[in-house]
This record gives sequence, structure tokens and C-alpha cells, in this order.
Amino acid sequence: MKDETRLVHGGRNPQRDGGIVNPPVSRASTVLYPTLAAFARRSDGDAKYRAVRYGAYGVANTFALADAVAELEGGVGTVVTATGLSAVTLAITALVRQGDHVLMTDSAYGPTRAFCDEVLTRFGVETTYYDPLIGAGIAGWMRPNTRVVFTESPGSLTFEVQDIPAIAAAAHRHRAWVLMDNTWAAGLFFKTFDHGVDVSIQAATKYIAGHSDAVIGTITAPTEALFRRIKDTTTAFGDIAAPDTCYLALRGLRSMAARLRQQEAAGLQIAEWLRGRPEVKRVLYPALPDDPGHAIWKRDFTGACSLFSVILHTGDEAAVARMVDAYRYFKIGASWGGFESLVIPAYPAPLRTAVPWTDPGFVLRYHVGLEAPEDLITDLTEGFERLRQAVS
Ligand SMILES: Cc1ncc(COP(=O)(O)O)c(C=O)c1O
Repeated sequence: MKDETRLVHGGRNPQRDGGIVNPPVSRASTVLYPTLAAFARRSDGDAKYRAVRYGAYGVANTFALADAVAELEGGVGTVVTATGLSAVTLAITALVRQGDHVLMTDSAYGPTRAFCDEVLTRFGVETTYYDPLIGAGIAGWMRPNTRVVFTESPGSLTFEVQDIPAIAAAAHRHRAWVLMDNTWAAGLFFKTFDHGVDVSIQAATKYIAGHSDAVIGTITAPTEALFRRIKDTTTAFGDIAAPDTCYLALRGLRSMAARLRQQEAAGLQIAEWLRGRPEVKRVLYPALPDDPGHAIWKRDFTGACSLFSVILHTGDEAAVARMVDAYRYFKIGASWGGFESLVIPAYPAPLRTAVPWTDPGFVLRYHVGLEAPEDLITDLTEGFERLRQAVS
């Protein structure tokens, strides 16, 4: 079965859902049982992980979304979490204990770093940041107590592509788990478990939900034991996504392949155009043939989403503001993966400790939405004219 078909049919259960195509929103705290004996058995065996028992453990919408994402990612089970960030933090938490060591890519999403530095440290778990391009060299950073090697590929601000199979081989020799934030590839363009990853994480807020109207996360595991260990942890923390949010994410997932195909084409067109602009020093986008990550991206990925950064020649923030503040379609706002185009300043330097970020050029991160690329290029062209006037 192809992924396009999987995205349409995954997690659907017409018998369970009364014949309706989309499972109705099932708002629930309490679930009623006919007898004391049935109540006593409510968490027996698989029911603890997949049955509707209490709203905080998941309802039909949660499990329908979980099944669809598990199929997409090629896993055995998916845990749906309240946010993408809680998917990251709870996946790590499920696998470490006091005295353990985490290896974290230097290119990780800022709040992932903050969790390691501000929370894990308080529980006696130490983090070391490593060069995202380290590949097999990760072996030299492993300690006897290294339990987790966390990857994010490409990095969501600076787009380094990691050699995941090489990292996974080294990590597994040292009996560490490999976690990956797979949000950029949306579970579609990179198959984590085929490349040695043990736990695949997504901010479903982005391309899965796809409409900038929901925050939600997913953690997918390739084995039942790992899935249950993670689900037990998220349950212990009381983390859950609301039924309405699961409904939105599942609805978004159904059209994700079509959206991504259009956004990929537009993203590539615009990235190529930006690369030819005199104001742009570099475009950080592995789908471009001259990107340093292109060879590994081509080897391991089947496509690219529409999120990339540019390094401008100028570092003049006021001039950049003249350009960006007046964009018509590239709106200034956090997040990505929705139907609309966005731009933010990236400021990588304070987020780097393993490999300092020294480029003085201003970095902007663009998300290309579903608008016509011609209109977006007009918007960018007019912006560069404002930049030219501001710097001259
Ligand atoms: C790569 C990456 N991972 C995780 C997250 C966190 O997702 P959420 O905003 O749903 O908490 C984000 C959000 O921007 C992200 O870009």
C-alpha cells in the first residue's frame, strides 16, 4: 500500500464509528460500566493501552489518530500527546533515569534544549550537545551511562541533515536508544524505523494538523514493549490531547500527502529563486543540489517539506525589519506546516554550544504555504527592494 492510500484509510473503523467516515468527536471524562466486575477488568491486558476507559487515557478520536499515525510511520503503536513539545519531553523521560546521560543534537528545537538544561538536570540526567554532522563519530561521545541519542533531521532552524543510520549503528552498539524528531519529514518523507531509529516523534501541530488551528504531538514506537513504556509515562504525567484536537489532526492527516506535494514543489521553486538573489548568501535547504546535506537527504529521504532558512549578506536587523514587516503574504509568526506562508528570524547563535554559529548574516526561516508561488515571489521581490533601500 502506498502512503497516499494509507493516509486516507489508516485508523478508520466504520463499525466502531457508526458507519460515519470521520469518527465523531467523543468528549468524555467518565466511561460507564455495567457491573463491578466489568469495572474491575477495564484495564486488563491490551485494554490498558487501546481501550476507551477514561477520558484522560484517550477516547475513540485519540486511538483513531494514533492508529493512522502508527501506520504512516510504520510503527506498532503511537502515543498521542498534548503538544509536540510534550511528545519530545515525555519520550525522553520514558527512557532515562537518574544518573543517565543524553546526547542531544546541537541543532535541536530550542525548547527541546531548554527541557534538557532546565528540567533533566534537576533529576540528575546530564545532557551533552553534539555536532549534528557527527555521523559515526557519535561513538566517541558515548559514555557507559548514555541512554538516549536524540536526533532532529534536518534541524528545524538550520537544516543540517544527520546521518541517522550511522548514528543509530553506533548508539545501538552502546545500548542507547535513538530518538528522532521527525516533524520536518512529517512521517511521510523519512521512515525512521527503516533507518535505525527507536522512537519517532512529531509535532503533529505542523503538517499533520496542517491548518494552524491545533497543537498536538505523536510518539511512535516500533515494538509493543517500547510503545507501552512510553504510554505508561504519558499516562503517569496526565498528558493527553483533547478529542476535538485529535479530530482536527486526523482530518488534517487525510489531505497531508496532497498538501505536502504542492508545498514541496512551491518550496523548491522559491528556494531556488532565493538562491539566485544577490541579497542571499546561502539557502539552508537539503533539497537544493548544492546544499551540504543534499547527498544524505537524497539517500534517506523521499521528499522535502516547505520549511527552510536563508542567510542574508546583511546582518542589519533594522533593514531586515523594513523588508519583513511589510510582506503581504509571508506573515510573521511561530510554527509551520499550515496552509499559509510564514517567516521568523532564526537567531541560531544562542542555541549553539557544540558548534558555535559564527555567520554574521541575518537568518530568516521561511515556511511556504499553499499560495501561488508567483504571488509569493512577487512578495519576496518587493521585500528585497525595501531591503536594498534600507541598507544603501
Ligand atoms: C522541530 C519541532 N519539534 C517540536 C516542536 C514543538 O511542537 P509544539 O509547538 O506542538 O509543542 C516544534 C514547534 O515549533 C518544532 O519546530
